[in-house]
Amino acid sequence: MMLGLKVPTDAAWAEEAARDLGRVLVDHAHCEMKAASNALSLAARHPHSVALVRALTDLAREEIDHFQRVLVFLERRGLALGPPPVDAYAAELRRARRELPASALPSAALVDRLLVGALIEARSCERFKLLLPKIDERALHTFYGELFAAEARHHRTLVDLAIAVSGGDEAGVLARLEHWSEVEGRIVRALASAAPRTTIHG
Ligand SMILES: [Fe+2]
Ligand SMILES: [Fe+2]
Repeated sequence: MMLGLKVPTDAAWAEEAARDLGRVLVDHAHCEMKAASNALSLAARHPHSVALVRALTDLAREEIDHFQRVLVFLERRGLALGPPPVDAYAAELRRARRELPASALPSAALVDRLLVGALIEARSCERFKLLLPKIDERALHTFYGELFAAEARHHRTLVDLAIAVSGGDEAGVLARLEHWSEVEGRIVRALASAAPRTTIHG
């Protein structure tokens, strides 16, 4: 499975998403904005490490760029951005954070947030790959191919940052990531059986 994900997205997801690319684009735009604001809020809360702040603000800058590029595709289609769709996936991940057993890693709360971010990147990456063969519009196809690579890189960056802030405990962080991957997989499976969706995550 891609980037440590435990549960593959159902093949029917891509069929459905491809039928309503406008909705996918609206949801996707909001995902990019959330990724940027999450990176910024983590940077603002952890000013002690210049390296961490630099990496997170670089990430935020790139996510804002992705957001603005999705906006162009929305505008070309005459679609409004509108309010963010309900994000059950993110809500379930937040809830799981409170229910998970405590982590003994240094900076455990920050490590968890970085790992959750890493899994969200992995899931986006997986879904861009599933969507790619369904997209006829050349510019959008090129864009999603580029995002596929970017989100895979972000996954790696966030895992590396988690290892760095834990003081270099790679084995400990990867064990925690394994735990989070199980949780994320259960959430994806539950959401897929609840209703058909055309979102980048849930
Ligand atoms: Fe992005
Ligand atoms: Fe990303």
